[in-house]
Amino acid sequence: MSKARARHQCQECGHVASRWSGQCPECGAWNSLVEQIGGGGRAASARGGYAGGVTAGGVTGSVVVAAENVDLAAEPAQATGLAELDRVLGGGLVPGAVVLLGGDPGIGKSTLLLQALAQVIARGGSGLYVTGEESLGQVVSRADRLGLARGGLRLLAETQVEAIVAHAAREQPKAQAEVVAKAKVLVIDSVQTMHTELLGSAPGGVAQVRESAAQLVRFAKATGTSLLLVGHVTKEGALAGPRVLEHMVDTVLYFESENSSRFRLIRAVKNRFGAANEMGIFAMTERGLRGVGNPSAIFLSRSGVNSPGSVVTVTREGTRPLMLEVQALVDQSNLGNPRRLAVGTDQNRLAMLLAVLHRHGGITAHDQDVFVNVVGGVRVSETAADLAIVVAAVSSLRDRALTSATVVFGELGLAGEVRPVPSGEERLREAVKHGFDTAIAPRANVPKRPIAGLRIVPVDTLAEALEQL
Ligand code: TYD
Ligand code: MG
Repeated sequence: MSKARARHQCQECGHVASRWSGQCPECGAWNSLVEQIGGGGRAASARGGYAGGVTAGGVTGSVVVAAENVDLAAEPAQATGLAELDRVLGGGLVPGAVVLLGGDPGIGKSTLLLQALAQVIARGGSGLYVTGEESLGQVVSRADRLGLARGGLRLLAETQVEAIVAHAAREQPKAQAEVVAKAKVLVIDSVQTMHTELLGSAPGGVAQVRESAAQLVRFAKATGTSLLLVGHVTKEGALAGPRVLEHMVDTVLYFESENSSRFRLIRAVKNRFGAANEMGIFAMTERGLRGVGNPSAIFLSRSGVNSPGSVVTVTREGTRPLMLEVQALVDQSNLGNPRRLAVGTDQNRLAMLLAVLHRHGGITAHDQDVFVNVVGGVRVSETAADLAIVVAAVSSLRDRALTSATVVFGELGLAGEVRPVPSGEERLREAVKHGFDTAIAPRANVPKRPIAGLRIVPVDTLAEALEQL
């Protein structure tokens, strides 16, 4: 082996170093570098026997094309038929696209993909489900429990990736017309159980997961198969070997849930084919996962009694508005350094908002502990919730509740100004739809034509908003 080929990969973060050292230069982990097969040893994986990756003319099968000759219609997304999944995928599965679905064990990843596969097959596509964790019997009994038709569903219990690629290649439709027109889906459940004969290290390690995924990705790209990889999330909330997998795939979806809730959120954290912050919502039932078409309804408190510190806002997750309840608890602190704790929203932003509240609202919280929680286990990354967070804090501090049919949204600037947010009118309409009759909103977001049933209180500054309350 030539010197240039030697490489060592960190089992913690996936960093590749040309020389071994006791500590990973990237993540600082000790004794984590393991010698790998050389970077030039890739030819081994072309043994799969599938027709893709053809080498013509002796050197390579790739060709340079003029940009104007690239046909955009060639790779349309094909809907799986599970609307909430299609939403986060950006319309559906794209041929050759690789999707990584992460989530805690037991959240419903296998259930979701089995349901998706059944839909794809029902629509005339083909699907191969590879299980590395469960027996064929377990997979089939789940399918039966879900009431899915078994017809057309192909199963494989295997963890060795070379064997999987060989089987999957044999399963490819032979007729050229079929190859183009029908969705072909390969599910790997899970990628962490996969191993390749190219490496001697134990399955589950970063190197094995990475190399196995790489071979599957090459197969997907070469054959136009949509590849769905299940990935387990570690205790720290990251996919095992996160960096090595996330950059290899086209789409990363996270499947998550609040403790003990039957609702499941699926969220795109990376998507080459759609919006990255898109969110789909399912409910887990006895008959599997059911899409939730009207998510605002489930996140709003059902009690009807408004309590101090509780404010409803309208966020926009991906392409649709979502109504959420923001709660704040502001309480006398006996610590020299009072606590600021934010669940479901950014902690640093909370500190900033409290500073704005002090400077421009004349309300100080320096001797108060401030806790903010977004109800329903949703994470709000938008600044449109700023005003609601501040209003919730003031409401808790003053121990005065808002009238229950009021929504609040708007971004807060450091100068105490209330800034407009995208899609203001759409948010207002969502509020009316859910029975709200008053909205405190940035002036620039007030639509020219009034919205029936909604009184809009336009505000330019935080001081104005507080006055209106
Ligand atoms: P599963 O898809 O096996 O989770 P994962 O693959 O992410 O580990 O789902 C497991 C849980 O879902 C299990 O606790 C039982 C529950 N479940 C239902 O509530 N209803 C159903 O129809 C199915 C199939 C599972
Ligand atoms: Mg599973």
